[in-house]
Formats: sequence, C-alpha cells, structure tokens
Amino acid sequence: MPGCCDPNGYDAIFGARFARRVAHKYRKRGLDRTSRRIVDFLLERGIRDATVLEIGGGVGEIQVELLRHGATHATNLEMATGYESEASRLLEHAGVAGRVTRRNVDIATAPEAVEAADVVVLHRVVCCYPDYERLLTAAGSHARRLLVFSHPPRNVVSRAFLWVQNHALLIAGKTFQAFVHPPEAMVGVLKEQGLTVRYRRDGLVWHVVGLER
Ligand SMILES: C[S@@+](CC[C@H](N)C(=O)[O-])C[C@H]1O[C@@H](n2cnc3c(N)ncnc32)[C@H](O)[C@@H]1O
Repeated sequence: MPGCCDPNGYDAIFGARFARRVAHKYRKRGLDRTSRRIVDFLLERGIRDATVLEIGGGVGEIQVELLRHGATHATNLEMATGYESEASRLLEHAGVAGRVTRRNVDIATAPEAVEAADVVVLHRVVCCYPDYERLLTAAGSHARRLLVFSHPPRNVVSRAFLWVQNHALLIAGKTFQAFVHPPEAMVGVLKEQGLTVRYRRDGLVWHVVGLER
C-alpha cells in the first residue's frame, strides 16, 4: 500500500521482483540498447573523474558502467525501496560498492537535500513522475556539465497504450500512473537551466536526449 512516503505508489510496481528482473537481464546481456546509448553519449563527451547523480537509478547498472569507465563516484536517488538487495549484489560484484551512495530522496520536492554532480542521468524516470517541470528543473540545476534522459515518444500509440495501462493499474487498486509528457516542453525546461541539446536518438519505445552546459 502506498503510504505517506510513497504517494506515487512506486513500491507496488518497482519492488524486489522488478529489481531481480533488471539485474538478471544486465548480468546476462549487459546494458539494454537505450542504456547503452545513454552511456555512449556520456563516454563520448568524457566522464574521467566525473561525479554522477542518477535519479531513479533502480539497481544501478548504468552507474556500474560509468564507474568502470572513469567516473569517480555515483549517487543514486530512488523513491522505491525494493531495489536495495539486488543493487548491493550488483555493486559488490562489480567492485564499485564503495563508490556509490544510495539515497531515498525525491529531488523534485527536496532539491536542497541533494548535491550537484558533473553528470545527471534519468533513464525511464520522467515518465513515472507526474510533475516533469519540477523534476527536470531540479535535475537540470544539479547538472554541472552533462545531463541525459530517456522518455517515451508522445504519439497516438504511446498515449493509447498508457491510457489502457493506467486504467488497468487503477482497476487493480494501484496508485502508480505513467505519463507521456510533451518532449519539447521537457527539453525546454532543461534549456531554461542553461543546458544545450547535443544528442538525440529516437528508438521505438525510448527516446534519448543528451545535453551539455
Ligand atoms: C521505470 S523505473 C526505472 C528504474 C531504472 N532507471 C531502470 O531503468 O531500470 C522508474 C524509477 O524512477 C523512480 N523515481 C521516479 N521519480 C523519482 C524521483 N523524483 N526521485 C527519485 N526516483 C524517482 C521510481 O522510484 C522508479 O524506481
């Protein structure tokens, strides 16, 4: 049941089972295509000695790759609490556990509680948060150099799909809802934070936008 600290109902959807599935897939096949695009954009711009802030980073597989490729430290912010044991296993196994801080914080409502980082990542997160303006304003203001995020395309198919999914969730008694926020308005929020678009890749399900200060 969502309580005071999980008003968006994340724990009911992104629990231990979801975490196990993501971690298992990563162990077996490495990063999925969208995560690979996110990491490749950052590697291409350069992340040596960079600090990373991943918002809604789940089990942390993107952080593992960035730390392996020269980033010094990663902070993971999550609102769901079910990832922790899979995340520790993954980070321990990769030998990077000492370089990752995992926190249960909503940066959108408590931006002052989070330190800025050189690189900010949001993969499959904006579509899970109702107020994209607040979330991306906070994310952008915490990015010293680079920010990359993924989001679903906004078209008839994605809107119809989410309409069905959200209604099914409501019928099942879940409070979690997903969103297809307007892509250019999201980019506009980040531009207002002083970031410039340097990269775009449109996949069928996830679009990736990379920005630089
Ligand atoms: C679809 S999951 C994606 C997790 C991970 N990035 C992945 O791709 O496997 C979305 C996650 O975003 C997290 N999230 C959404 N809004 C957030 C916020 N404002 N701060 C921190 N985490 C957030 C939720 O808790 C949820 O675990």
